[in-house]
Amino acid sequence: MNKQQQPAAEHSSWVVYKRLLVYVKPYWFAFVISFLAFALYGASQALSAKWLEHVIDAIEQGALEKRTLLALAVLGIFLMRGVGTFVGSYAISHVGREVVHSLRTELFDRMLTLPSDYYQHSSSGEMLAKLTYNVDQVTGAVTNAVKTVLREGLTVIGLFGYLFYLNWKLTLIFIAAAPFIAVVVTVASKRMRKLSRRLQQSVGDITSAASETIKGYQIVRIFGGTEFERSRFHAASDRNRRQFMKMVVTQSLNTPAVQFLIAMALAGLLYIAMHPSVMGVMSTGAFVAYLTAAGLITKPLRALSNLSTVIQKGIAASESVFSVIDEAPEQDNGHYSVQRASGELSFDKVGFRYRDDSEMVLHDLDLHVPRGKTVALVGRSGGGKSTLASLLPRFNAGWSGRIELDGIPLEEYRLDNLRQQIALVNQHVVLFNGSIADNIAYGVMADCSDEQVRAAAEAAHVMEFVDRLPEGLQTEVGEGGLLLSGGQRQRIAIARAILKDAPILILDEATSALDTESERHIQEALEQVMDGRTTLVIAHRLSTIEKADLIVVLEQGRIVEQGGHQELLEQGGAYAALYRMQFADA
Ligand SMILES: Nc1ncnc2c1ncn2[C@@H]1O[C@H](COP(=O)(O)OP(=O)(O)OP(=O)(O)O)[C@@H](O)[C@H]1O
Ligand SMILES: [Mg+2]
Repeated sequence: MNKQQQPAAEHSSWVVYKRLLVYVKPYWFAFVISFLAFALYGASQALSAKWLEHVIDAIEQGALEKRTLLALAVLGIFLMRGVGTFVGSYAISHVGREVVHSLRTELFDRMLTLPSDYYQHSSSGEMLAKLTYNVDQVTGAVTNAVKTVLREGLTVIGLFGYLFYLNWKLTLIFIAAAPFIAVVVTVASKRMRKLSRRLQQSVGDITSAASETIKGYQIVRIFGGTEFERSRFHAASDRNRRQFMKMVVTQSLNTPAVQFLIAMALAGLLYIAMHPSVMGVMSTGAFVAYLTAAGLITKPLRALSNLSTVIQKGIAASESVFSVIDEAPEQDNGHYSVQRASGELSFDKVGFRYRDDSEMVLHDLDLHVPRGKTVALVGRSGGGKSTLASLLPRFNAGWSGRIELDGIPLEEYRLDNLRQQIALVNQHVVLFNGSIADNIAYGVMADCSDEQVRAAAEAAHVMEFVDRLPEGLQTEVGEGGLLLSGGQRQRIAIARAILKDAPILILDEATSALDTESERHIQEALEQVMDGRTTLVIAHRLSTIEKADLIVVLEQGRIVEQGGHQELLEQGGAYAALYRMQFADA
């Protein structure tokens, strides 16, 4: 888990914001609509000050016959305001949710193409938090912020226009407060961005702690991890609370500070306005309207000054989202593709390590597997068997030497084409939320017929236990397949691989969870399946690989022996020793 996700270089807010606005562009029409609607709202504000001027002047001049018109005007002004608010808010929220949707899906689409290296080095909780929480934080910057800019900005422009029109000299006093407000706003928004990042981090910690505890609930309970997980979760949640409160303090201090500066400007304004020389030139109506408009302007000004804190929150969120979107996807520079490979594999002086600074996991590996043959990889745990298998679908890249399929280097294949040629049963079976049938006919096999699915299930001895389930193949297994035993899950994974009918089959400890009898049954089924396709079997239980065409013993990343079962036994080397040990156990 990488703790503090600091961006490599501090991007300027404007660069990030501009990039965010690109997502807004397709919705320009809704944007224009909301602009017009908020302009209507702003105009209604200015009109209400104008209205007051007319009321007072009418009273002063005793022009009481204007009252019908003035009363109707109130309704008109509020109608304008209501329509403006509704249409404006709706249109801008539409834009905001669309942006969140595109960002979120783009983020997920990127996650689908990230190299396995990325998955191995980031916590799932953090990734989940980005998809759910961080993305949502962006809305503030594109909806609320834009809404504020439009609605309050236009209101301010309307009111300022009116103030200038009434008395421009007086209005200049307001402007004098602007630099002070700017300082307060800058300080607050810097702090806001920092706090937002920490807040996002804490949400990631919360999701991590929660998802690990949920997945590993049995281990947590049996090893007395309850206290540990509790305190970890409480600490993360508490950190979240503290960061949030710090944000509240920043935002809440920002508002009164700005308000006070505005009040100072207003005070100065009133003081000067009530000077006899000024009073003389304005009608009472105009004077009251002036002060009213000046008072009305404080609310939108305050909202505008809060804006940058909202934007900073959105920027911190978009930064974290963009950092994933900008990750390089899996390398896929190959152009070669083949309908169905014949399955001849060859490894030539292959070496591999996971990271540039870590030790070699595979050394100088030479191996040739003719098409349709079965190779068994055996050897001690950590010897590099799974690693070797993971190179074939190019889950790990950057090996040295050559790996070829049908005489063509693996990296020349198009990635999706290469993976079409491979069926895989993992060491760790993964089942998806859905029925057993959905899990067998997963992905590209989704449109296989029921008969095909059933045949694969038969071959993998899935039907043995499915027939006892009331809903048969349609039984829901739930995420993680908790309803099933380890061996049952393995059988589903095998059925999936059988259904795929690919020229290359990789079985990484595919039958390790089965009892000896089931294993023997499945072994027979697998032998039929292996017939005609190149198979890589990894197994600790040597009884399952005796019939392999070639047995390869891997130790610490090196091939120490290879040959047939009988041949290796007679050699009396590493394989014979392993075999004797297991035989003695039995
Ligand atoms: N994602 C990874 N990042 C870094 N090192 C890894 C990674 N996966 C495995 N290794 C290292 O590579 C070595 C070989 O691991 P590998 O999983 O290939 O062994 P294995 O032969 O399949 O073992 P087992 O029989 O226990 O499954 C181990 O030393 C392990 O620490
Ligand atoms: Mg392994």
